[in-house]
Parts: sequence; C-alpha cells; structure tokens
Amino acid sequence: MNSTKDNPIGFFDSGIGGTSIWKEVHKLLPNENTIYLADSKNAPYGDKTKDRIIEYCLKNTEILLNQNSKIIVVACNTATTNAIKVLRDKYTIPFIGIEPAIKPASLVTKTNNIGVLATKGTIQSDLFEKTSANIKSDIKIIEKVGYGLVDLIEKGNVESEDIDFLLKKYLNPMMKKNIDALVLGCTHYPYLIPSIRRIITNDIKIIDAGSAVAKQTKKILEKFKISQTKENCNTTHKFYSNKDIKVLSRLLNNNCVEILNKEF
Ligand code: DGL
Repeated sequence: MNSTKDNPIGFFDSGIGGTSIWKEVHKLLPNENTIYLADSKNAPYGDKTKDRIIEYCLKNTEILLNQNSKIIVVACNTATTNAIKVLRDKYTIPFIGIEPAIKPASLVTKTNNIGVLATKGTIQSDLFEKTSANIKSDIKIIEKVGYGLVDLIEKGNVESEDIDFLLKKYLNPMMKKNIDALVLGCTHYPYLIPSIRRIITNDIKIIDAGSAVAKQTKKILEKFKISQTKENCNTTHKFYSNKDIKVLSRLLNNNCVEILNKEF
C-alpha cells in the first residue's frame, strides 16, 4: 500500500502559468510525485468574481484530493488571494499559496517605488490590500492590471508585437514613476521575462515568488513528516488540462511528464 509520502503533491492553476511554480518545486524536490490541473477552460480567473474563483478552487481541490494529493500548491496568485482561506478552513491537508512578492521587493528597493503587475482579481483582493498595507509607509506601490496577457500566454504567445504592445502600456507608466523592482504577481508572467527584460531598464529587478513557494512547500512537507525521503527514480508527473494540451506540452517538453486531456 502507498504511504502518504508516496502520494503526489497536487498543483492547480487557471491554466498553464502554474507550471512556472511546478518547475521550481520539481527542481527542489525531485523525488516527489506530482499531479497538476490546468483549468484552462475557465481561464482567466482574474476577471471572475470572488465567488466564482472560490467555486473553481473547490472543484480543483476535490479532484486533487480524489487523486490522493498529500499537499496542494495553489499555483495561482488570483486563486490564492481570493480563496486560500476558504480552502484552509474547509480541508485538513496543508495548502501552499502564492501572492505578489511585495515584501521581498520592499527589502531591495532603493527608490522606494515598486511596480506590481497582476490580475484584476489579485489587485482587488483583500489579501493584496492587507499585504500592501503591511510594508513600510514610505514605499509606494504602482500597480497595474495585466489585461489580456493571460489570454495570450494561454495560446502560447509569449513573444510577439501584441505582447510588447501590452507590456509597454503597463510598464512604461511604472518606469515613469521610477520603480527599481517589478513584482510579477501572476504565475503566467515568468514566461514573459525575456519580453519584459527588453522593455524595462537594467536597474529594475524582476521579483517573482516561485522559488520561495518551492522552499515553503519543502518546509511544510518536512513539518508534517510527509516528504519523500527515499531516492525515487520512478517519479510520476501527471498533467491534466481541460482544454488544448499543445501549449502545456511545449512548456514541459524537457521534463519526463504525462500530459492528458480531461473533462473537469
Ligand atoms: N496564473 C494565474 C495567477 O497567478 C492567472 C490568473 C488568471 O487566470 O487570470 O494569477
């Protein structure tokens, strides 16, 4: 019989963006089995109401629990900032969330101006407001909603004139306000880093929380004594998408994973 340690780490996102988190977790914890849900049919979550986002998160969680997930990584800022409390209150397994890394950005900024690019759902959430209120009062946050970016990334479009047009529209006003740290507040956006780098000046640091999420996942697995401690050469990594799997396959092409289409 499988022990809890053999059970997979579950991940979900509104689509393919959370694979940026999965990659960090897999790098740090290569012996762990994983299962990932890309709810691309319902992407973007960022434009939906809080109630609708919670509904999607509950549905995703039930599927991951049915597959015996021992811990769930909510690999989506929008889902975390709107639903993580509901999930933690309802279920007993641990949940790891991701939210825009404002605190780390506040520790590196010298101009005291931080840019945050995220979805509407994240920026309007109570959790985002609370986190923003908790940093030093002399630090200014210049936030922009990345309208349209998730739709393009879901289609596999990460470098194009359309992407550059939108990025310039969101990033130029931040640069005018003299930011020196740019927080990527959506797990889809790390795939835009080469495009973002071409637009912003070199003095601006890009901050994303992917590796911090991986470290936190490791810490919580150890705390609950459910880490896979034995060397495991036969790990399984299952990716389920309820839409086209082409883009997912392209993003994960160097990894030994199984990518399947599934109704959910
Ligand atoms: N990856 C999700 C996030 O981190 C994308 C949100 C969306 O689907 O709008 O916020």
